[in-house]
Amino acid sequence: MAFKPRVFSGMQPTGNLHLGNYLGALVRWVEMEKTHECIYCIVDMHAITAAWQDPKELQTAIRDVTAAYIAAGLDPRKSILFNQSQVSAHAELAWIFNCTARLGWLNRMTQFKEKAGKDRENASIGLYGYPVLMAADILVYRGTHVPVGEDQKQHLELTRDIAQKFNSDYRKEIAEAGYTDGEFFPLAEPVIMGTATRVMSLRDGTKKMSKSDASDLSRINMTDDADTIARKIQKAKTDAEGLPSEEAGLASRPEADNLVGIYAALKDTTKLEVLREFGGSQFSTFKKALADVAVTRLTPVNAEMRRLVSDPAEIDRILKDGSERARAIAEPILAETKRLVGFIG
Ligand code: AMP
Ligand code: TRP
Repeated sequence: MAFKPRVFSGMQPTGNLHLGNYLGALVRWVEMEKTHECIYCIVDMHAITAAWQDPKELQTAIRDVTAAYIAAGLDPRKSILFNQSQVSAHAELAWIFNCTARLGWLNRMTQFKEKAGKDRENASIGLYGYPVLMAADILVYRGTHVPVGEDQKQHLELTRDIAQKFNSDYRKEIAEAGYTDGEFFPLAEPVIMGTATRVMSLRDGTKKMSKSDASDLSRINMTDDADTIARKIQKAKTDAEGLPSEEAGLASRPEADNLVGIYAALKDTTKLEVLREFGGSQFSTFKKALADVAVTRLTPVNAEMRRLVSDPAEIDRILKDGSERARAIAEPILAETKRLVGFIG
């Protein structure tokens, strides 16, 4: 079957979103909505796989991420924005896929190894099965394009392996159901979102900006006010030289490269353009300009996010509406899957 292009992606409900999340994920996903049918899922069921989550904090994080996406420009009437646990088809299809996927496949998953660490015996079954649920998230909508970070590539390969094995395990039933090319589930493709949007720490240009960095000066949080943003940029690590006039001049100057990259991303332009303007300037001048751009771009998003989270009932309504629209797509696909497997109902 020629599958209709459909974008699906999931995001963990983690609080403290920062500039890296904004430029690397939020802005990208908002962009895709202009050209594609998009389904964006806040994966609350994945959120409880690694460590026990405080229920109140989990609720807050789900609403914060929802608000962040809408504040960044996502239109919840156009795209479907919802939280995973409201659409039980994900969990049901994941069970069927648990019986499709092989232990050997999951044993190779590097994220499990990283997250489980040395005490593997004590990891949850959910953490082990995490990639199977992820495959179900995508395939229950017959998602064809999945924007993710580089680290999710292996999970996407597993998703394709599961789709392929399901299509092959049930090929007779799939053919009888009228799928002449034998494809019931699509082989979903990753859309890897570029390295250009790897935003690095403001304190160390070789480390990714991350919510887990002990120093708050290393990142710009989506909730920082204008003064805090300006102060953090002022204090950002740089080297002693001025800005070069060509991109080659940024090589082996990770902090300079990062700040120029952030400026370019915030202005929707290229590093070369930025260097055309600032080549030869001192960092003191450039940092002032960068702070202005960052404040201009981020404060309206901050304000909108704050406005949205002040009305949790409205966010919950948006998630409920998204879930209903998601269910309308997922349920018929799940029902058909169950029939293929031989379940009666
Ligand atoms: P995380 O909070 O690390 O799970 O990331 C959520 C999303 O933000 C993922 O799609 C990441 O690829 C993206 N992301 C996180 N940190 C950065 C960063 N420093 N630069 C660019 N993208 C990032
Ligand atoms: N594992 C993804 C991450 O940590 C989140 C995720 C869950 C996801 N289900 C998904 C991403 C389905 C894409 C498609 O970033």
